Amino acid sequence: MPGLLTGKRVLIQGVANRFSLCAGIAASMAREGAELCLTYQNERLREGVEKCAETFPGSFTLPLDLQEDDQIARVAQKLTDRWGTLDGLVVGAAFARTEELEGEFIAVSRDGFHLALDVSCYGLIAMTRACRPLLVAAGGGSVLTLTYMASERVVPNYNVMAVAKGALETTVRYLANDLGPQNIRVNAISSGPVRTAAASGVKGVGGMIGEVADRSPLRRKTDRDQIGDVAAFLASDLARAITGEIVFADNGYHIMGV
Ligand SMILES: NC(=O)c1ccc[n+]([C@@H]2O[C@H](COP(=O)([O-])OP(=O)(O)OC[C@H]3O[C@@H](n4cnc5c(N)ncnc54)[C@H](O)[C@@H]3O)[C@@H](O)[C@H]2O)c1
Repeated sequence: MPGLLTGKRVLIQGVANRFSLCAGIAASMAREGAELCLTYQNERLREGVEKCAETFPGSFTLPLDLQEDDQIARVAQKLTDRWGTLDGLVVGAAFARTEELEGEFIAVSRDGFHLALDVSCYGLIAMTRACRPLLVAAGGGSVLTLTYMASERVVPNYNVMAVAKGALETTVRYLANDLGPQNIRVNAISSGPVRTAAASGVKGVGGMIGEVADRSPLRRKTDRDQIGDVAAFLASDLARAITGEIVFADNGYHIMGV
C-alpha cells in the first residue's frame, strides 16, 4: 500500500540531531514515502544532520541559517534545480539567548527580543515566501511549523520565546490566508514539552516534562514520534481541509484547568 506522502517532496528545516522534533517529523514523513531535503544551521551541526539524513534513502542536505537571506535564496534555487516543485515545507527553528530564558520577562533586552523574533517567527515568513513558487508549481502544498502553549498561558522562564510563539501562531493564520487561494495550507503543531537541545535551554524544563505527563488526560509524555506522525498527517492530502490551525499534540494537556 502506498504511504500517505508517496511522491511528495518535503524540505525540513530544524533538525539539529536525532533528538530534534524535526528528526521525528523526517522519520514519519520518510516512512510515509516522502522524499526529503534536510537543512543544517551551521558546520557544527552538519555531521549530525548528515547522519540523520543517511537513514532516509534518497534524501540530501543543504546549509541554511535563517538569519541569512542569501542562504534562504540559495536553498530555494537548489530545490528549483533539483526538484522543480515542492509539496511540503517544515520550518522548525527557534532561538533565544539563554539569559533571556530565565528570571523576569520584563528584563528582556531589545536585541534579545529582535533575535528571538527574527529566527523563531520571521524565519517562517522568509522561508514560505522563498518556497512559494515551488509549492505553486506542485499545484499546492503544506507548510508546517512548531509552536508551544506558552504563547497562550504563562510558563515560567519561556519569556521572550513565548512571545515569539504568539507571533508565530498569528503568522500561521496570515500566511494561510495569503496562500490558501494557491492551495497551500499553513499550520502549526503545538507540541507538549520534549527533552531536546532547544528545550534544555529553558530553565526547569526537565522537571516540567514529568509533571505535564502525570496531569495529561492520556498520562504520557509527548515524544518526537508522536509529533512526526501528526506532521505526516497534516502534510498529507487527508488534511486538505485544515489550514491556519494550531494543532495540539500534547496528549491532551492543554485542556486541563489544573
Ligand atoms: N522540545 C519541546 O519541548 C518543544 C515544544 C514545543 C515546541 N517546540 C519547538 O519545536 C521546534 C524544534 O525544536 P526542538 O525542541 O526539536 O529543538 P532542537 O534544538 O532540536 O531544534 C531547534 C532547531 O532550531 C535551529 N535553529 C536555531 N537558530 C537557527 C537559525 N538561525 N537558522 C536555522 N536554524 C536555526 C537549530 O539548528 C535546531 O535545528 C522549535 O521551534 C521549538 O520551539 C519544542
